Amino acid sequence: MASIRGSRFDGQALVTGAAAGIGRATAERFAADGAHVIVTDINREGGEETVTRITETGNSAEFRELDVTDAEAFEAVVDAIDETELEAVVNNAGIGHPAASVEETDPEVFDRVIDVNCRGVWNGCRAALPVMKARGSGAIVNVASLGGMIGLPKQAVYTLTKGAVLNFTRTVAAEAGPYGVRANAVCPGFIETALGEGFFEQHEDPEKARERMEAQYPLKRLGRPAEVADAIAYLASDEASYVTGHGLVLDGGYSIS
Ligand code: NAI
Repeated sequence: MASIRGSRFDGQALVTGAAAGIGRATAERFAADGAHVIVTDINREGGEETVTRITETGNSAEFRELDVTDAEAFEAVVDAIDETELEAVVNNAGIGHPAASVEETDPEVFDRVIDVNCRGVWNGCRAALPVMKARGSGAIVNVASLGGMIGLPKQAVYTLTKGAVLNFTRTVAAEAGPYGVRANAVCPGFIETALGEGFFEQHEDPEKARERMEAQYPLKRLGRPAEVADAIAYLASDEASYVTGHGLVLDGGYSIS
């Protein structure tokens, strides 16, 4: 098949949690826009499938197994990339947890969600920033959530981590800006992925729960991974050259209604 490679990016982009959902859609978007994508995930099979989907369209990607909670492993993946090439890092990997109030939350669940959602983003920024700052360019996009901006009953740890990711992104932007490096976040509302489905499955009638959720959105539907991917690619691209420290909300109008 003829390549449909675009010219928005001409270097390499690393995406975490790219074996599924928003991460996979983001990897596909970046590849279609011209980047060579380093697809990373703990799920090798899914990650390799993402690479196959990309290369089948004539675009460019490779898989690296990476648990974002492992700082050394993250550094090793970044070190393996030619430092003149690393254009963007998307810290997307994240997990949810069973519905539980603050006092019901299992401390082990707390530790695990903090580790993946916060330490993972921290590790990604720590690995990428020295390379990007030394070169004087680069963009980081962290995947936060609408849940980092509003309170969500029984999502205590998840909202704690996503609020942290959003504000941490502002600090990264403030520190890295003088070096020509930008950092932004996206704050998606409910997006149709395995993580999203897991939320409905916790309800007695998942279909009813979904309908109730859709009704709360002015656009009357949930979001799609590709819609988040488009926003991430914009924030990482030169089209957003004066945008930094921003949290771009993609929530079908939920938070304004
Ligand atoms: P998903 O569950 O479909 O995909 C997440 C991917 O991250 C999976 O491939 C999984 O293997 C990977 N992953 C999990 N732990 C990892 C680790 N320790 N290291 C590396 N990879 C790991 O989830 P989805 O929905 O695509 O979520 C992606 C991001 O978007 C997450 O940060 C999530 O919190 C965020 N988000 C999702 C929303 C939704 O409604 N789906 C809404 C707002 C934010």
